[in-house]
Amino acid sequence: MEFIKLKDEKECSKFVAGEIIKLVKNNKKANLGLATGSTPIQTYKYLIEDFNQNKTNWKKIKTFNLDEYLGLPAGHKQSYKVFMSEMLFEGISIKPKNVFFPNTDQNYDKLIASEGGIDFQLLGIGTNGHIGFNEPGSELESLTRIVDLTEETINVNANKFFDGDTTEVPKQAISMGLKSILEAKKIVLLALGESKREVVSKLLDCKEFDINFPASALTLHDDVTIIYDEEASI
Ligand code: GLP
Repeated sequence: MEFIKLKDEKECSKFVAGEIIKLVKNNKKANLGLATGSTPIQTYKYLIEDFNQNKTNWKKIKTFNLDEYLGLPAGHKQSYKVFMSEMLFEGISIKPKNVFFPNTDQNYDKLIASEGGIDFQLLGIGTNGHIGFNEPGSELESLTRIVDLTEETINVNANKFFDGDTTEVPKQAISMGLKSILEAKKIVLLALGESKREVVSKLLDCKEFDINFPASALTLHDDVTIIYDEEASI
């Protein structure tokens, strides 16, 4: 794993957006694996800014989101579909038919493989080390499946996105598994802010897979970059 520490959210997001823009320009049919949460929001703003300024062509790009809540009504403001539309898709020239989310009716891993696999996987990280919604205890061999969210994740996401109301947060989600994530050709994990200090420090020390720290699965991939800011650094 390569670690790159940059000053702040702005610098980190510019860096990651720059990497995505380079890929989209060099490979007009690239497949991107995308993440939700608060972490990539600024990155997505830079992608939209670049689209407005440089008309980067997203028409043949396909995106595959990592996860989606289960049990929210379609069109719910906090569903990841709505989040992605508002934060990114409406601001660039991506085609709705090229945008994919996991759901219980399809085999997401097969679908991704049949589209040629993911060229670039963007990840955030939970305060308990989850990637996607692979909570501690997730198996290394896990594929896309229904998962139960931990109390910690429900609390964190309630405070960030559901006005602190834990009863509004779904208890389950569908998430790409650790094996699904490791299939990507290149992986970039972004960690921002003080709340990610502990997990960044754990990642820096990480040498092998530990089932209680799902992000440790990334030690098994040979093209992973961890971008983090000064606040996330000890
Ligand atoms: C969420 C998402 C993850 C995300 C992580 C961190 O619940 N399922 O994909 O990376 O938790 O979230 P945030 O970026 O808000 O800290």
